[in-house]
Amino acid sequence: MAIIAPSLLSADFLHLERDCDMLNQSKADWFHLDVMDGQFVPNISFGPMIVAAICKSTTRYCDVHLMIEEPEKYTEAFKNAGANNITVHIETCKDLKHNIQQIKNLGMHAGVAINPDTPIESLKNILKEVDLICLMSVHPGFGGQSFIPNTINKIKELRTLIDEQKLNTKIEVDGGVTLENALSIIKAGADILVAGNTIFKSKDPIATIEALKSI
Ligand code: DX5
Ligand code: ZN
Repeated sequence: MAIIAPSLLSADFLHLERDCDMLNQSKADWFHLDVMDGQFVPNISFGPMIVAAICKSTTRYCDVHLMIEEPEKYTEAFKNAGANNITVHIETCKDLKHNIQQIKNLGMHAGVAINPDTPIESLKNILKEVDLICLMSVHPGFGGQSFIPNTINKIKELRTLIDEQKLNTKIEVDGGVTLENALSIIKAGADILVAGNTIFKSKDPIATIEALKSI
């Protein structure tokens, strides 16, 4: 059974409390919070203030995905906001090991995300340092995009690497996850499914989460 992490990027921001309550009543395991700075990605979402408000509304694990330049400047702010995990992008970190250490020193789990065009090979040296790898299955910046099929091969390649080294590093897949493709994503070796539009744009989000959870 995969960990289901609804992405609040697709929530209704005028009714955030209602959407958080809905997730609290659902089988969602994690809250996935997408922070975008308009520099690393061509969109701006929200920062530590909104993350703090959301984290306060739940006891679920808060998974903060930083799509920002210089994430080291904001690590502590997101820790104070209530993050349980911080994921940084390999493409933005000048000294990735330092970023990972900074996150861990603050008592959080650490994740590393890679874009669709970044090869799995680039993760070899840091795999054993992190709690999760987030494989982007769309180009980061927006919810509601289509899943990039080659991600399946990347999941398999990463699963093999992790298993060969007998690590506990989790594989998270982020972008374009649907009820139709979730099974093949899990079969390829993913542990965590992030889903935004599939959940929030469905008629019955609680039932959709349950359906994802039961795959
Ligand atoms: C994209 C974000 C994703 C996004 C997923 O840059 O990192 O978490 O919200 O949304 P869907 O599931 O709608 O593709
Ligand atoms: Zn994300």
